[in-house]
Amino acid sequence: MANAAMARSRYLRFDLGLTGTKYGCGEGLCGACTVLVDGQPLRACLATVASVGGGQVTTIEGLADGDVLHPVQQAFLEESAMQCGYCIPGFIMSAVGLLERTPNPSTGQIRDALAENMCRCGTYPRIERAVLRAAGGRE
Ligand code: FES
Ligand code: FES
Repeated sequence: MANAAMARSRYLRFDLGLTGTKYGCGEGLCGACTVLVDGQPLRACLATVASVGGGQVTTIEGLADGDVLHPVQQAFLEESAMQCGYCIPGFIMSAVGLLERTPNPSTGQIRDALAENMCRCGTYPRIERAVLRAAGGRE
């Protein structure tokens, strides 16, 4: 049962069973827990249930349309951007937020938008290529 002070990541994972939202540092530093609130990336480990209020929360589970992946998810697959995969939901949510604001980002804008998402496997070049692909910059 959610209470207003509960961290959003805990509520999503343990109360709603939406385990696509990962828990990493718990301090807002790694980005593994990133969700979208009204289209803007948010660190769910820091946000409380109350702080999100009536905002529209989207998790990685909400991106695909049935069996059809979101273009960013598809691009991550096509670029083999996952290694262990733990960080990937957070990267994808940050990338979706970026592309909603900036549909054709430069490499620099992609790096800036994803700068606070950490990947311990070091797949940054492939992640960057995946975001470019999703934006239509790669075939
Ligand atoms: S778990 Fe939220 S930023 Fe690391
Ligand atoms: S793919 Fe393993 S932490 Fe990023």
